[in-house]
Amino acid sequence: MKKRVLSGIRASGRLHLGNYLGAVKGMLELQNNPEYETFYMVADLHALTTPHDIDELRKNRREVVIDYLAAGLDPEKSVIFQQADSLHAELAFYLSSVVTVARLQHLPTYKEKVKQYPEHSTMALLNYPVLMSADILAYKAHAVPVGDDQIPHLEVAREIARKMNEQYGMDFPEPEQFKTTGHYVPSLTGQGKMSKSVEGSFITLTDTIETIKKRLAGVATDSGKGYIEKGLYIDQQFSRHETDAVSYSDGVSVLMDFVTLFQGNHRKEEYDTLYTSTGIRYSDLKNELADAIYKELEPLQEKRRELEEKIEYVDEVIHEGGKKARAVVEETILEVREKMGLK
Ligand code: ADP
Ligand code: TRP
Repeated sequence: MKKRVLSGIRASGRLHLGNYLGAVKGMLELQNNPEYETFYMVADLHALTTPHDIDELRKNRREVVIDYLAAGLDPEKSVIFQQADSLHAELAFYLSSVVTVARLQHLPTYKEKVKQYPEHSTMALLNYPVLMSADILAYKAHAVPVGDDQIPHLEVAREIARKMNEQYGMDFPEPEQFKTTGHYVPSLTGQGKMSKSVEGSFITLTDTIETIKKRLAGVATDSGKGYIEKGLYIDQQFSRHETDAVSYSDGVSVLMDFVTLFQGNHRKEEYDTLYTSTGIRYSDLKNELADAIYKELEPLQEKRRELEEKIEYVDEVIHEGGKKARAVVEETILEVREKMGLK
């Protein structure tokens, strides 16, 4: 039997390079691997865990599907659907009976969101990881293509799977992250990860070449030179660091990560050499990098424009995907209800 895969992205705005490299690329890879059966959803219920605008949500839950299709998710190969159309919320309730409030309150993601929205510390927010576990376990999925920020949530899903198996004799696999090369895409600010909630941190999949250049122009750089001596790196401030690799300042290190992701290791190594010899000209580096990023995004943008003209097709994909997803979830829910004593 094929192993199942489930992943999703919250319906809370346009996708950025972090979402694309950390999640969507992994979704694509597994979709195109015949050993897997893939289910990809828009996490619209999860959008209710933080303050939201009703019209925006209505729009975004379709926009994410358009981004998925533009990136190459294929309804012939993957079940593409909206979370609210399946029965995940019901399963989440059953699963919530094996998790303690304390376990959920201690999650870093929960604490961050409470800090961000102190007036909005709701049950839905606390329950976020349980709903995410339901998304995954509903399909008895083995692999979950997500970025590193979701690892604590996967840990909860694994614990829930274990408890459901022990206490009720279910056979949930313990789901694992499917890691892409871009499993952690840094923020353009040089601090933390690229995120749609941090202004100035991201490049979106719909950015024009001019916008990409503008965003890269904002990344902090240095004089372009440093040097290494016998495993010792001496930075601009003459501080000494033990290293066997060039260590760049925060902003430049972000640029180097993007060079590796979009232009390959070889180009990055050339910059390492330049940095410790004649120096790097960052204006040239940024222009070249912007072109490399845009080259990857351009076909997606073209496909997106085509899809925007075929909204009925997109809605049909969502409708059909919902039916297929629901059929699988209904089976799991029946089994859970029976094992828990509800039948
Ligand atoms: P955001 O933090 O921008 O709101 P989401 O939480 O909607 O992004 O994330 C959607 C998917 O994209 C998840 O699988 C998440 O792990 C992945 N992702 C988000 N940001 C990054 C990043 N900077 N690097 C790698 N993956 C990321
Ligand atoms: N929590 C994920 C995010 O922030 C979205 C998500 C919801 C998800 N349910 C999921 C990801 C199930 C993978 C599997 O992006």
